[in-house]
Amino acid sequence: ASLARGTFTWSAPSNIALVKYWGKKPGQIPANPSVSFTLNHCKTITSLAFEKKTSGGHSFDLLFEGQPKEDFKPKIQKFFARIDAYLPFLKDYHFTIDTRNTFPHSSGIASSASGMAALAMNLMQLERALNPEMTDDYFYRKASFLARLGSGSACRSIRGEVVVWGNHADTDGSSDLFGVPFPGTLHENFRNYQDTILLVDKGEKQVSSTVGHELMHGHPYATQRFAQAHENLTHMSRVLESGNLDEFIKIAESEALTLHAMMMTSMPYFILMKPNTLEIINRIWKFRRETNIPVCFTLDAGANVHVLYPENDIAAVLQFIRNELVGYCQNGQYICDTIGFGAEKL
Ligand code: PMV
Repeated sequence: ASLARGTFTWSAPSNIALVKYWGKKPGQIPANPSVSFTLNHCKTITSLAFEKKTSGGHSFDLLFEGQPKEDFKPKIQKFFARIDAYLPFLKDYHFTIDTRNTFPHSSGIASSASGMAALAMNLMQLERALNPEMTDDYFYRKASFLARLGSGSACRSIRGEVVVWGNHADTDGSSDLFGVPFPGTLHENFRNYQDTILLVDKGEKQVSSTVGHELMHGHPYATQRFAQAHENLTHMSRVLESGNLDEFIKIAESEALTLHAMMMTSMPYFILMKPNTLEIINRIWKFRRETNIPVCFTLDAGANVHVLYPENDIAAVLQFIRNELVGYCQNGQYICDTIGFGAEKL
C-alpha cells in the first residue's frame, strides 16, 4: 500500500513509576526492570500530518500548541535517526508534528514520556495504514519499542493500567525492548487509584535524566540497587494482586527515596528534593499515622511529590491536601490524576 497524504491524532498519557528505572545500557536498555501506573489526565496530544515526497532524508516541521518550536527539533531528529531502521517509510514522507500537553508546560512534569509515546503511536498508525494486516499485539508492542528509543520511560505510556518494562524473571512476557501490561490481575483496591501531583518546583531540571542514568555507571551502589529493583518488582507484583496497601506503601516510598539516594551518592552528587518536598513527606507520614488512611508519596527525578491513595479516600485526602499541603506548592498548584488506560486514537 502507499498513501499520498493524511493526518492522524493520538493522545498518550504520562506515567509514574512505582519501581524506578534509573541506569541504562547502550541502546536504551534499562539496567533494571520497572513498573508504573499509567496516568489518565496528564497527556500529550499529537497530530501527525504526512505528505509523500520523492527524495532526501528525514524531513519534518514541529509545532507546539500550533506555533513553530525549534528547540524541540534536535530531540525529534535524534529520535528519527534511531527509529529509521525500524520504519522503512520514514524518509518517504514530510511530516508536520503538532503537539500539545493537557498539563501546564514548565510545570516540572516531564512531557518526554507522553510526548514520545504519542508520536510513536502516530508513526505506528501510518505503518499500519501501509501494512493493514498487522495484529494489535504487534502494533502496541512496536509502538512501545519505538517510544523507548525516544525516552526510556515512554515505553510505559502506551498501555494501561500498570506496565512492566525490563527483563524480570518473575514477570511473564517482560522485555527490555518494550513495556508490557502487568500480567497479573490488579486488585480492586487499586481501581481508579489516585495520583495528586503537588507542583513544588517548576524550575528547569537540575539534572537531565540522560545525565542521571549515566551516573549509575561506576556508581558505588549500582549492583546492589539493580538487584534490589528486581526484588522490589517481585514484591510489588504480589502486592498489586493481593491489594496489601501497607506493603504497597513500603515499596513505593522506599523506591522513591532510593532513587534520590542514588543521586545523592553519585559523583557528581545532586539533591533534587527541595525543603518543601521534605515538609510534604513529613506531613503525609503524620497524616497517615493519625488517620490510618493508606496515602503515600512517590517522586520522580525532581522536587514534585506524587501523592498516591485509593479512590475511597478521595474526600479525606483532598481535604488534607487543601488544608496542609497546598501551601508548600509553587503558586498553590497541584494536579489531580488517576490511573488510566494508555494511548488513545482521536
Ligand atoms: O525516561 P527517562 O530517561 O527520562 O528516565 C526517567 C526515570 C525516572 O522517571 C526518574 C524513573 C522512572 O522509572 O520513570
